[in-house]
Amino acid sequence: DAGHYDNGGYEHYLLKEISEQPDTVARTLRGRIDDRFHIAHLGGLNMDAREIRSFRRVKIIGCGSAYYSGQMGAQLIEELARIPADAEPASEFRYRSPVVEPDTLYVAISQSGETYDTLVAVQELKRKGGRVLGIVNTVGSAIARETDGGIYLHAGPEVSVASTKAFISTAVAFALLALHLGRVRDLSPADGRRICEGLRRLPEQIKEILTLEDRIKELAKKYADAPGMMFVGRVRGYPVAREGAQKLKEISYVHAEAYPASELKHGPLALISPELPTVAIVPDDELLDKNLTTLGEIRARHGRILMVGHRTSEAADDCIVVPKNEVELDPILLTIPLQLFAYHAAVALDRDVDRPRNLAKSVTVE
Ligand code: AGP
Repeated sequence: DAGHYDNGGYEHYLLKEISEQPDTVARTLRGRIDDRFHIAHLGGLNMDAREIRSFRRVKIIGCGSAYYSGQMGAQLIEELARIPADAEPASEFRYRSPVVEPDTLYVAISQSGETYDTLVAVQELKRKGGRVLGIVNTVGSAIARETDGGIYLHAGPEVSVASTKAFISTAVAFALLALHLGRVRDLSPADGRRICEGLRRLPEQIKEILTLEDRIKELAKKYADAPGMMFVGRVRGYPVAREGAQKLKEISYVHAEAYPASELKHGPLALISPELPTVAIVPDDELLDKNLTTLGEIRARHGRILMVGHRTSEAADDCIVVPKNEVELDPILLTIPLQLFAYHAAVALDRDVDRPRNLAKSVTVE
């Protein structure tokens, strides 16, 4: 209940929680990075190196934003630990009677630790002998108790219905998990070091992004009157786009759709017009040129473009430039401006930011 926590002088809990992220990320990281061996210390996993080497697959489950953070996590695990990994909504997973494999590591994500669909999926996995870790914020919650071990986020209570700091801390926890798995498999010390250093830079870089708030507020006002928005990203940018769209629809009630950028031409390009602006996630990575080509295609259909990336581009109407980290960690930082964008769009439209209609903070029923 929001009444139990101090809003710290912020107008909304959501803004407080967005603004807290330099600290909450630091808390998620605290005591978990080993700069000597470039490894992560995750005592709560209860897993030895031999077991870690036995996994042939990682399957991640969660609902809503937790699922999108899991998609980000799956990419981190594939990139750093080189284990095939994917994420699926927990409810879909449990209803489709999944094959539970002994050499798969299952990871359940939940801020509250009480989401019914995720809890029941975990119980089903356990019944069938699955090895399940939890990435959970709420200590002692049902999912934390039900799993065989895991990582607590230590992000502190999240009051606003729309998840922000828990999303970011979950992605950070996945980076630690991927580092941990990778370093007992085949991630090199040099790459381990690169990731450790990148993780340590995150809190300061988030602070830098938060200083862009006034500009993002102007942009949110500019775009908030659109009847809908398209969010696009490729590979690492796609979960960012999905979470950005989710935040916008949850709190501003503006229709938002997220697509992999390369899928546009297979259908949704028909929607592009001056009335449907696009938020494009364009990191400086090996897909930069492809993404810039996509911007040209949107432009050619008179679509307005707000680009979020590491540089400005003539192909976009507006750009939000965020600090660069390691390519694997960039999605974490690229998500932050989208939280502020959704927040200010919701405020501009006079929505009930912390308690959006029809939604509950944790969905403890089927
Ligand atoms: C996030 O903004 C949403 N309110 C929602 O999708 C949420 O992430 C989902 O219901 C899962 O909640 P949990 O993390 O507490 O399990």
